[in-house]
Amino acid sequence: MPITQRDASLISRISSLFKDLFAEEPVLVRSPGRVNLIGEHTDYNNGFVLPAAIDKAVYMAVSPRDDEEMHLVAADLDQRYRGKLHEFSTSPQQWPDYILGVVSQLQAHGKVFSGFNCVFGGDIPIGAGMSSSAALECATVFALNDVFGLGLDALTMVRLAQKAENEFVGVKCGIMDQFASMFGRKDSVIRLDCRSLEYAYVPFRSEGIRIVLFDTGVKHSLASSEYNTRRKQCEAGTRLVQAHHPEVLSLRDVSPGMLERYVAPADLLIYRRCNYVVGENARLLAACDDLEKGDMESFGERMFATHEGLSRDYEVSCPELDFLVEQVREEPAVLGARMMGGGFGGCTINLVREEAIEELTRRTASAYKRAMNRDLRMYKGQIESGTSRI
Ligand code: GLA
Repeated sequence: MPITQRDASLISRISSLFKDLFAEEPVLVRSPGRVNLIGEHTDYNNGFVLPAAIDKAVYMAVSPRDDEEMHLVAADLDQRYRGKLHEFSTSPQQWPDYILGVVSQLQAHGKVFSGFNCVFGGDIPIGAGMSSSAALECATVFALNDVFGLGLDALTMVRLAQKAENEFVGVKCGIMDQFASMFGRKDSVIRLDCRSLEYAYVPFRSEGIRIVLFDTGVKHSLASSEYNTRRKQCEAGTRLVQAHHPEVLSLRDVSPGMLERYVAPADLLIYRRCNYVVGENARLLAACDDLEKGDMESFGERMFATHEGLSRDYEVSCPELDFLVEQVREEPAVLGARMMGGGFGGCTINLVREEAIEELTRRTASAYKRAMNRDLRMYKGQIESGTSRI
């Protein structure tokens, strides 16, 4: 991919810090964050998602050591971690866990390698819902695979990165973020079936329409515990249906009728959670048809409907996200908007007519400041390619 000036300065900062600290030539890797156009909280229910890799990334420099030590440096935080390959556990600093989780997955996968030096940094805002953690995991697995010639293919790397987050970090996330970070392609969104892992690149080059992210600047600490709770609630709903339909493997196979019949009478809260997911899968498929027909207005309306479901039924939104979606609802230049990612903070994703972006951002930012007393940050979503060596 063409290296922009900003990329070049990030890369040179990471690589010179690495050379200063370790006096060696490292392997350099870029691993991007992601956006998701539609299909939220569907991945761990074996449904569909429509993400894309973006122009914000983690840059990582790695070289092998001839002992068993891991020397890790988070350049942006100015923090270091030292550990041994065969005796590490989770770190109170937290960021090492994304790297250590990958190391532990590689070891569980039977891969043998020596210690290593690692410096990383980047420009994915942390906690903004653009999956900086998945990018860090993918950078790590990709770099170690390259440095130690481990012979892993891209899909295996994605699965290991996801398992690192599930088992070491403790968030039971689906596969979307790691998949998008690894498999992203410039100017395309990825329609991914999270059950079969079949995927297709769908060109996203709508004339005059841009992806715009409004960052609430909020990150609620309950995000990961509530996330795991939602996952359990979906599984509970699936079990209620399975008692009558053993052929059902996940919410992916459940119809609205089944939910009404077997879940609603048993537990209304579980019903609302499951009903959102079942509706979202259908909405995503319809939205893909919109995209093929170039009907971005209809696509945008579905984004608003997704937000409604996430906010009212799935209850993973927050006042700041709701405010930002409400604020642009009647804007003629905004085709669609919704909260993006796990929820409880982070960004809204908006489809906006290009010529209106600056003015819209100004007005939205001042309304946000008045209502929430917070500064609004805006990012233009530029779709780029996935994890690669630089
Ligand atoms: C987080 C998770 C993903 C996905 C989204 C919600 O980003 O990491 O796997 O579940 O939330 O769609």
